[in-house]
Amino acid sequence: MKKSVSDRKGSSKKRILVLYYSQTGQLEQAVRSMLSPLEECPTVELVYENLQPKIPYPFPWPIIDFMDVFPESVYMDPPEMVPVGFDPDSHFDLVILAYQVWFLSPSLPVTGFLKSGAARVLKGRPVITFIACRNMWLTAQEKMKASLKSLGATLIDNVVLIDQGPAWSTFITTPRWLLTGKRGRFWRVFPPAGVAPGDIARAVRFGRALADSLDKLESAPGKPLLWGLGAVKVNPRFIAGEKIAHRGFSLWGRFFRMIGKQGNRLRRSLLVLYLLFLFCMITVMLPISIVVRALAQPFIRKRLQEGVLRLEEPSGSSTERMARYL
Ligand SMILES: Cc1cc2nc3c(=O)[nH]c(=O)nc-3n(C[C@H](O)[C@H](O)[C@H](O)COP(=O)(O)O)c2cc1C
Repeated sequence: MKKSVSDRKGSSKKRILVLYYSQTGQLEQAVRSMLSPLEECPTVELVYENLQPKIPYPFPWPIIDFMDVFPESVYMDPPEMVPVGFDPDSHFDLVILAYQVWFLSPSLPVTGFLKSGAARVLKGRPVITFIACRNMWLTAQEKMKASLKSLGATLIDNVVLIDQGPAWSTFITTPRWLLTGKRGRFWRVFPPAGVAPGDIARAVRFGRALADSLDKLESAPGKPLLWGLGAVKVNPRFIAGEKIAHRGFSLWGRFFRMIGKQGNRLRRSLLVLYLLFLFCMITVMLPISIVVRALAQPFIRKRLQEGVLRLEEPSGSSTERMARYL
């Protein structure tokens, strides 16, 4: 019997484009761990693309350079990018977009890609986003959702890995790692910086589930494939905090963009002052916000719960398929 066009499509090799930008290699390692089950799949072709800005960002970051990318990150002003190695007009069945968060926004190299001509590869394609960051990714992902929508892509899943340890410890360990390159445990109370190696290893469950469900890209287009695997977990305590912080970032970011472009001396000096201001604000506001949140909790519980469910879309935080794929 002759096969229909859709039958033929269903049985052909699946091409998956994996886009990533990572400075330390952690994000690349995590996304490769997730996709390792597909490496062995004869019916899958994985095409990895390391997104590169024309002028590389430093690592570890001198503090002044770190602050100097803040306004452009928040406003998603794209840097110039090295041309991509794949053909943006060729067909991919699925795109995996792995990104880090910079100042509650997608990192600048990823923004550079999203705003380049090569992003036309995403048009009409299903996309899985994959994030590895400290722990504040909610606003960045909302910005990513808007960008993908405007590019005509369909977000079908989101997987998030966050740095190990409680939030108070990563508030120290992550900046220490970024600004000095030192990653190890210290003073007994602070864990190593970055995502726990166990969490990176367990990302393999997503690849296994993906290998099992690639045919659904055609039979159930637009539907999540990675549900029931604890892909994300939204901490309701961070929702209001991120909103307030992003509002502040937008205001101050506009001011610094008005002063001058990246590299402008006056802007760089004022940005260091701003960092001190930010540090004082967080130190003063954190205890106040904990008290306010505790008082407001009974009145906003339902709204908060709705917000959590919305931000956890499309993959959700449930874990009923975890045992099957781990
Ligand atoms: C300039 C800059 C800003 C960052 N801002 C955030 C942030 O807002 N939220 C967050 O959770 N992590 C933030 N991070 C941490 C990164 O998301 C990421 O965890 C870290 O850069 C390591 O990524 P890599 O190992 O892939 O290079 C920031 C990192 C950099 C370099």
